[in-house]
Amino acid sequence: MTETLDPAVAQTVAADGADATKRLFIKTYGCQMNVYDSERMADVLRPLGYATTDSAESADFVILNTCHIRERAAEKVYSELGKLRELRDKRVAKGGNGMTIAVAGCVAQAEGEEIMRRQPAVDLVVGPQAYHQLPELLTRTARKRGERIGADFAPNEKFDALPVERGIEGYAAFLTVQEGCDKFCTFCVVPYTRGAEWSRPVKAILEEARALADHGVRELTLLGQNVNAFDGEGPDGKPYTLAKLAYALAEIPGIDRIRYTTSHPNDMSDDLIAAHADLKALMPYLHLPVQAGSDRILRLMNRKHGRQKYFELIDRIREARPDIAMAGDFIVAFPGETERDFEDTMDLVRRVNYAGAFSFIYSPRPGTPAATMGAQVPEEEAKARLKALQTLLFEQQTAFNQSLTGRVLPILFEKKGRHGHQAIGRSPYLQSVHVDDADHLMGQIVDVEIISGQQNSLAGRLIQKS
Ligand code: SAH
Ligand code: SF4
Ligand code: F3S
Repeated sequence: MTETLDPAVAQTVAADGADATKRLFIKTYGCQMNVYDSERMADVLRPLGYATTDSAESADFVILNTCHIRERAAEKVYSELGKLRELRDKRVAKGGNGMTIAVAGCVAQAEGEEIMRRQPAVDLVVGPQAYHQLPELLTRTARKRGERIGADFAPNEKFDALPVERGIEGYAAFLTVQEGCDKFCTFCVVPYTRGAEWSRPVKAILEEARALADHGVRELTLLGQNVNAFDGEGPDGKPYTLAKLAYALAEIPGIDRIRYTTSHPNDMSDDLIAAHADLKALMPYLHLPVQAGSDRILRLMNRKHGRQKYFELIDRIREARPDIAMAGDFIVAFPGETERDFEDTMDLVRRVNYAGAFSFIYSPRPGTPAATMGAQVPEEEAKARLKALQTLLFEQQTAFNQSLTGRVLPILFEKKGRHGHQAIGRSPYLQSVHVDDADHLMGQIVDVEIISGQQNSLAGRLIQKS
């Protein structure tokens, strides 16, 4: 799972309750799983009369759905809470209603009561496995401010308690199929904030997917911290692999495209690789983070594989699906990373050639083994490495986007563009594609000729039907 700071930050949930009397604002930080969770929080609160709004100013209830992955991500929450407190105080001083403030997500799980100590304006703290309890928590809060419960792990209870119906709008949706992580990479907080790996039963996933398809969704992105380790119980009582789940989902009328994220190289099974060759609905884009290119650093990170194994894996995936676009995540300046180790990362990137990637400077997280490994790389050096790596990754991304010029690709149109009748759609390789005079094609998958590629998007034109 990739923590996609920019796209996900400040994303609000767009779904209005019919007889809504109260306003809910959810601000989402971190990865796609938080985006999904925010949508689900809005779903459980809708029956209580909460409709979503797009600003804290107009809200009765504000939830910050937080991320703990790096120090900066966690600190942002506290500055946001300070602003919310001011807003609430001003409102009350003017004789208006107060505002209920909740902290959800991974900071809630990791820091719990500490949040209330640091910012007493917070009314409730709810961990990622407990948001189905929000209605109850809210009621209690109204009586007794400052209650914190629900930071225990019980994902099965959560999913069982959620409504099947989702207030989703649009043609592409996230669907969480797996949660948690048992990998314990030494830099990472996820095993502590999301708990052990757990897969949802196939029946529940299919039900949710059918409901989404009924609402017009055509593209599903299956989410999990280690989504390719999926082993949810199948209808026959035996575990399904992710590949098997993808085949079952592709049978649902209306579901034309399937993606999944994020995968660990060690869980890239043969049947999943074979599905990339065989299952048309499986999109040719794979996010497969490696984090570093040096065997020594990979060992210190506890990634449980070396660079050679990663190269061999990519060869096998490309053999199955030659046009597959590879994406990754990288960390530079892991404790003790030398210039030579970093060069190994640059070399790996050159050899794999990525269509997209996220890269970060290592951020020590309290309680994780790497935080006490010592020998931190000096900040200036870390910044220089990140810059060099990102320059290379952006070059590769731009080159990939440009290489599609002249190709005809099926594009799923999702939203209106900024100019005139422009529409924005998605390519099979997950790029945004801007097309003029296409705003009548929302929700359709249409052939488009790519006319240019930039770093972050493509431009295309509709193929004239003769
Ligand atoms: N399960 C996913 C990772 C989720 S976290 C996976 O294994 O790929 C998303 C990304 O954040 C990671 O891939 C990693 O690149 C980055 N990350 C995690 N912990 C970090 C830390 N302590 N410092 C910097 N980046 C980190
Ligand atoms: Fe974190 Fe590693 Fe698990 Fe990914 S695989 S969530 S990086 S511990
Ligand atoms: Fe996601 Fe951040 Fe939690 S990346 S799992 S929201 S720590």
